[in-house]
Amino acid sequence: MEDQQATLRNAMTRLDLTRDSFADRLGVSRRALDSWLLPATSGEHRRMPGVVAKLLAGLPEAPPVAAGAPGELRARFTKRGKPHLLSVAQFDRETVEALLRVAEAMEPIARRRKVTRVLEGAVLGNLFFEPSTRTRVSFGAAFCRLGGSVCDTTGFTFSSMVKGESIADTSRVMSGYVDAIVVRHPEQGSVAEFARHTHLPVINGGDGTGEHPTQALLDLYTIRREFERLGKSVDGARVAMVGDLRHGRTVHSLIRLLSLYRGLTFRLVAPPSLEMPPALVEAAAAAGHKVEQVATLADGLRNADVLYATRIQKERMSGEALEAYPADFRIDRRALATLCSPDTVVMHPLPRDGSAGANDLSTDLDDDPRLAIFRQTDNGIPVRMAVFAVLLGVEHLVGRDLRDAPWISPARLGPGDAPFHRLA
Ligand code: NCD
Repeated sequence: MEDQQATLRNAMTRLDLTRDSFADRLGVSRRALDSWLLPATSGEHRRMPGVVAKLLAGLPEAPPVAAGAPGELRARFTKRGKPHLLSVAQFDRETVEALLRVAEAMEPIARRRKVTRVLEGAVLGNLFFEPSTRTRVSFGAAFCRLGGSVCDTTGFTFSSMVKGESIADTSRVMSGYVDAIVVRHPEQGSVAEFARHTHLPVINGGDGTGEHPTQALLDLYTIRREFERLGKSVDGARVAMVGDLRHGRTVHSLIRLLSLYRGLTFRLVAPPSLEMPPALVEAAAAAGHKVEQVATLADGLRNADVLYATRIQKERMSGEALEAYPADFRIDRRALATLCSPDTVVMHPLPRDGSAGANDLSTDLDDDPRLAIFRQTDNGIPVRMAVFAVLLGVEHLVGRDLRDAPWISPARLGPGDAPFHRLA
């Protein structure tokens, strides 16, 4: 039965079709297709007719996980220039999917079943001039899980920038110490400026309200994995982005990255003054997507396949703007029950404001299997491992350099992990 689901999903991927258009192409109802895609344990599951099985058996398998020739992928998304990752604008669909296949190959290591030493001896400089927990630690952990080591500095206070040192000098100095650099900085464009002064790989870990490309990559990876389980395709998906869309760099990168796919509907739910920058809205529309800007959750969440909530970026606002933020953007159990479907994927880049009554994604959803936020944070490891492996040219070596992890680690990571969280 698993085979039946796999065959159908492989066919949808190979033919690049949504569930609706696939059902249409097969000449069956969407309901019939849904029943074929359900797990065999479900009472609603149905076997697909032999004639359909025979037709699909002729399709070639999805491409193998391994990337092309060493250095090829790096050359593709860096346009043969310096090996930096500064913006999602560096990707086309094929390249991003190739990178995410490298991330999939990292899963056994990320899941602590295997270890590798392909980056043994290499050092990462992790420079964070803005607060961070998951981005800083997951970049560091990803580098370590490839066998490398990490040196970091956090905040301006403990760096020489507080003494007036320029980005250019800092960049050149760091280049003498490490083999790759991740930078987070409060000013838009600052990481690109850093990258101009070095030939080492530089990765943008968030530049003010600009971009956060690796977050968008791990968000796309998460959406694809969740959709794979649900039998959905990114093409044609309805994605609701909620919250502070003006200052949130994660949504700035995500809308651009998702725009590489086809026929999406973006519902942008933001209060007045915190809307998505017009240039990003126009770019998504120009790429052929439907973009609806709405001001209430009720208008935005209807039929959403993905609900992507974001935090209000208080640190990037003045007092008045903050007061203008209405109190009805709280996404809790009630909002989900009344506005979302049983298979909406609920995401958030985190951190969320967990204080009582906070206007953010509520903790009362923590047992809801639709809440993908911790699967999303977990996915930061394989995706950032893939970025390092590709930028440092070792992605083809990882498969040849795997040993079993000798230590004991739990099968499930957190108490709220839904049963389908694939940790095996
Ligand atoms: C985000 C960021 O720093 O842009 N967090 C993250 O990296 N996962 C989102 C935020 O701070 O709200």
